[in-house]
This record gives sequence, C-alpha cells and structure tokens, in this order.
Amino acid sequence: MDHRKPLIAGNWKMFKTGPEALETADRLVKLLSTTMDVDVMIAPPFTALALVSDLLKKTRISLGAQNLFWEAEGAYTGEISASMLVSAGCRYVIVGHSERRQYFGETDETVNQKIKAAVTNDLIPVMCVGESETERESKETFSVLDRQVQKGLKGFSADEMETLVMAYEPVWAIGTGKTATADQAQEVHLFLREMLEKKFGNNLAKSIRILYGGSVKSDNITELMTMPDIDGALIGGASLEPETFSKIVQFQK
Ligand code: PGA
Repeated sequence: MDHRKPLIAGNWKMFKTGPEALETADRLVKLLSTTMDVDVMIAPPFTALALVSDLLKKTRISLGAQNLFWEAEGAYTGEISASMLVSAGCRYVIVGHSERRQYFGETDETVNQKIKAAVTNDLIPVMCVGESETERESKETFSVLDRQVQKGLKGFSADEMETLVMAYEPVWAIGTGKTATADQAQEVHLFLREMLEKKFGNNLAKSIRILYGGSVKSDNITELMTMPDIDGALIGGASLEPETFSKIVQFQK
C-alpha cells in the first residue's frame, strides 16, 4: 500500500494585507492540533510572506508562495525569484495556476522554466493543471492534461521531480461552487499518475502527491479524500477563513 501523506494547501490569492494575513495565520495555528498526520501549507500574497513566516516557524504549517520568476536575479521589474522566496521562509511555490495562465499569459513553457527554478532552489513546486469547461465539453480533458504535463515537465529527470506536487484543478470548478465529483476527479488523478509513471517510473509516480482543487469545502473534502489517487487539496476561497480551513484540514464536516 502506498503511503502518501496528505497535503492540504490554502491559496489566499490576492487577499489580505500583512496584518490581516498575520491574524489569519495566528488563528489557524491555534486551531490546528499538533498531532495531525497531514501536511498543511498556506500561500499568502508576497507582501505577507516574511511576516507570516516568522509566525509559522515553530509550527507544523509550511509557507508557500503563489508564483515566482525563473531568473535568479536581474532587471525584471516586479518579479520575485526562487531564492527570494526561500529567504522569505517559503518551502512551497504554486506554479501555473489557471488564473496565471488565463490573466497573465503563463504557458506550458513558462511553467516548465518556473518548475526548474523552484527545484534548483529546493522549493517544492505545486504544479497546477486542468481543463476549461469548453475543453471538458468537447472531450479534450485528457489531451489538454497530456499537453500540460508533457510540456510542463519536459526535460526533467526523475531525481529532479522527487518533491513535485501536482494539483488537478478543473478551471470550471475554481471559485464556481461546482466541484468535480469524487469519481470525476479520481479518473483524472489516475490518468495523471499513469502519465507520471510513463515519464518517471513507478516508484516516483507512486510517491508524487496529486491534489484536487476547485470549490473544495468542508462538506466535500471527506469524500474526495476517500479516493485512492487523491492525496490532498488546493483550496482557494475556503482557505481564507481559519475556522473553515481548519475543518477541511481535519476532514471535518
Ligand atoms: P477555490 O479555488 O477553492 O476558490 O475554487 C481553488 C484554487 O484556485 O486553487
């Protein structure tokens, strides 16, 4: 039986100032028991990372960023490098979120470069993939995912992919209240794991955590987590409120 420790990750998107983020993180720390057998990550906006990092230091909650740029440094106004994230206390970084692909021109090629920068700097990449509603309706789900994974992970060795986390986030389920059913998600997760197996071998494919994301709430997390290939969740809206998020982390209704 494979053992992949579940990961529940909160993506705060463009919400919360520094003080608001601190307050939320502080409440979350108090709500989460220290004995849980789940990894927890929160990804506040850049401006709150260093502040929240201090607060999380002696806790079991890890810090993640929502994005990065692939160059190490240089004249790239407005961008943040992997080493800057590490020095701000980050352990994870979300890469290729559909909102970045949709509004900020991210492509499978830029996702590839960002994952490279993340792994080179010992940041754990959380690579997001997922089809749009039109793509699902026209039965292109698997071909879209195939392209995103092939191009996004092009050129990596199995060693470089050791810490990779993948997040399946159907675009039609993000922030819409429409969740994929547990069976729909499982079908895709299995497909992704089989792709990872072909690319990187059985051992690695078995150890990579594949999260589901898209309108995850405390009343659907338990069913999703019963599926053999769903290893956790990436949560947007429901991660902003510590009481709600802590229920999800503890798989409570
Ligand atoms: P949601 O967002 O939980 O608000 O649907 C998920 C995500 O964008 O990661």
